[in-house]
Parts: sequence; C-alpha cells; structure tokens
Amino acid sequence: MTTFLEQLDKDRIPASVAIIMDGNGRWAKKQGKNRIFGHQNGVDSVDQVMEGAAAIGIKYLTLYAFSTENWNRPADEVNALMDLFVSAINSYLEKMLANNIRMVVIGDIDRLNEKTRANMQEAIDKTAGCTGMTLVLAISYSSRWEIIRAVKNIAAEVKDGKLQLDDINDDCFSNHLATKGIPDPDLLIRTSGELRISNFLMWQLSYSELYFTDVCWPEFKKENLYEAIYDFQNRERRFGKTSEQLTK
Ligand code: FPP
Repeated sequence: MTTFLEQLDKDRIPASVAIIMDGNGRWAKKQGKNRIFGHQNGVDSVDQVMEGAAAIGIKYLTLYAFSTENWNRPADEVNALMDLFVSAINSYLEKMLANNIRMVVIGDIDRLNEKTRANMQEAIDKTAGCTGMTLVLAISYSSRWEIIRAVKNIAAEVKDGKLQLDDINDDCFSNHLATKGIPDPDLLIRTSGELRISNFLMWQLSYSELYFTDVCWPEFKKENLYEAIYDFQNRERRFGKTSEQLTK
C-alpha cells in the first residue's frame, strides 16, 4: 500500500502548519473513560506529529493546546491539564533536542501557575539554540486576547510618538501579535469533525488552507498529518488572484 508520506511532493512541504487539537474528551467518552484519559492519550499524538512534521521539513508547527476559554472548564480538568503540560513537555525535551526543535509558547502565560510557567520556560531556554523546526505551543491563548493586546500596544506607541498613524499596516500589525516572526500558517488542521476556528490565529489564518478531519486528536498520528499535507498539495492557492494569473 502506498502511504501518504511516499506520495508527498518533498519540494512543496508547507512551511507553517497549525493544528486545533480537538476531540480528546469525546474520544475518551467513547472508550468509557474520563476526559483526562483523552488528554493523556493526546500527549502521544503531539509527540508523533511533532516528530513527523520535523522529519519532512515543516519549519513551524503551531499547536492549540489551551485556549483562554478553557480556563472556564472544571477546576480538576484545568489542573490536570496544567500537570499534563509539565510532564508532556519534560517527556518531549530529549526528542526536541535530538531533532533540533525549538519550543516557544504564545498566550497569556501570566495566568499559568508558577510550576507550569517555570517548566515551560526551562524547555524554551534549553531549546533556544535549535535551528530546525519551531514548535509553537498556544497555551492560554486566544486571538481576541492577542488582537486587543496588539491594539493597545499600537495605540500606546502612537500616543508616545514612537509610531505614526501612517505606519500602521499589515506588517506593523503582525509584528505586534504574539506570533511576531512566525510565518502565517499555510495549512490549518482541525481534528474531531468540528468546523470552527474557535478564536485561534484569526488574523494569521487569512489565506490559510483549512483541513477538517473526523479523526479525534488521540488517534491523529504521523500518517494523518501526511494525509492532510497531501490534500493541501492538491489545492490551488490563489491569494485573491485568478488561476490564469498563477500560471504566468
Ligand atoms: C481539546 O479536546 C484538547 C485540549 C483542550 C487539550 C490538548 C492537550 C493535549 C493534547 C495534551 C498535550 C499537549 C501539549 C501541547 C503538551 P477537548 O477536551 O476539547 O475535546 P472534546 O471537544 O471532545 O471535549
């Protein structure tokens, strides 16, 4: 059987891929287990997808791990997720270093507990010199949080005379977002059959290709990632132009 990996055009691998990892809770429920069990099983998917993405030359992999809205979940689930982030990141560290993967975090991390924040900072520091793929973990992140913060910072710079109104353009705005320096996703994947953006990278996804799969996150592995990229490679990205203009 030909695999999706074998069918990929290695010269057209998307540079930046973002994933809304969804369906942990529903997957666990189907097994008669609690939601935390689903999250625990999602840890291996992150491990596999990270490794699989780096192996084919994806430069930026952004994973939506915890939204600002997720703070409203029951306290025991939030606490379990925070502990899971700590243990998962520790378990990835060796692989990140071996695969030259740099880890960064975007989000309102001041809301995280001290232990989780310190653990993330340690992984960020230890992988800072890695020059292969960048793994971007969106934790305590939402697009509206990020956009409001950017608007406030831009307004403050204008007020202080550091920025002129005419300087505010696409690049300026992008540079005030948490994703500064990270290319906009070429491809967004969402698992578990939900067809929503859920407050994720709303500015950055303007021209991204969207890929939805019914597979729940704990079952999404390397070959599922490659299937999504294969699908992406068979699309035509026009960025507002016509098909004819692209072939010229
Ligand atoms: C969404 O499923 C998933 C989450 C809110 C947590 C994702 C966390 C992990 C995969 C753990 C490891 C991650 C990292 C980055 C270290 P859901 O709970 O919303 O599922 P449901 O929609 O079926 O309820």
